[in-house]
Amino acid sequence: MLLRAHQIKKGFSNGKKRIEVLKGINFEVNKGEKIAILGPSGSGKTTLLNILGTLERPDSGEVFWEEKVLNFRDERELSFIRRKKMGFVFQFYHLMPELNVLENIMLPGLMEGLPRKEAQKRGEELLKRLKLSEKAWQRIYTLSGGERQKVAIARAIFLSPKILFADEPTGNLDAESAKEVVQLFLELNQELSLTLVVVTHNLEIAKKMDRIYLLKEGFLVEYSETSLRESGD
Ligand SMILES: Nc1ncnc2c1ncn2[C@@H]1O[C@H](COP(=O)(O)OP(=O)(O)OP(=O)(O)O)[C@@H](O)[C@H]1O
Ligand SMILES: [Mg+2]
Repeated sequence: MLLRAHQIKKGFSNGKKRIEVLKGINFEVNKGEKIAILGPSGSGKTTLLNILGTLERPDSGEVFWEEKVLNFRDERELSFIRRKKMGFVFQFYHLMPELNVLENIMLPGLMEGLPRKEAQKRGEELLKRLKLSEKAWQRIYTLSGGERQKVAIARAIFLSPKILFADEPTGNLDAESAKEVVQLFLELNQELSLTLVVVTHNLEIAKKMDRIYLLKEGFLVEYSETSLRESGD
């Protein structure tokens, strides 16, 4: 098992009111697997992804990375796994507008102390792989949404993570670009055995994954025709 969560609970207090968002989540993903997480807006998908990605601490429950329980108070351990083993892709790309395409992709390498030349070589390889070589020197604002998301994916896999978390990666894209981005995910999963955890509202995309989880009312259930029909999502 690559990543496993056991009885995760998480709530938030805003002012006087407290909401319990995750009420006992169990989740697991094997290396090389592709998982979709579906669920209504506000059901806690991003919260769950943040906890699985070690960005947020659960109130209770455990997360296991390669069968080793994570200590959410050990920021050094968490950030090591987060930086070296995990990649993240978001709905709104989160690219650096003041940098060009190649520089954006190289950034994780430079932050890890990789010599600039090596980082550039790796960045150029990735751009080639994504068929974006001719965009290398362009600024982000000159790219289409689909191209931006591909750049974000290239950046996310720069350090060869074992798992890629994507939070509504096609939420801001037209149908055609969404298709291309999903195709890219599937290819990377095939070529690199990259494990995928994709939050999406799009059932067609979810169905391309190996398994679908549904998050509803604080609990995660595995997809079946019945659970999906009942959820109305
Ligand atoms: N830091 C926070 N402080 C207070 N409330 C929060 C915080 N983060 C999330 N929430 C609340 O927790 C609930 C779940 O939020 P979350 O963003 O995880 O939902 P989501 O399923 O990703 O929704 P969407 O599909 O709209 O992205 C929401 O009610 C949200 O307002
Ligand atoms: Mg969300």
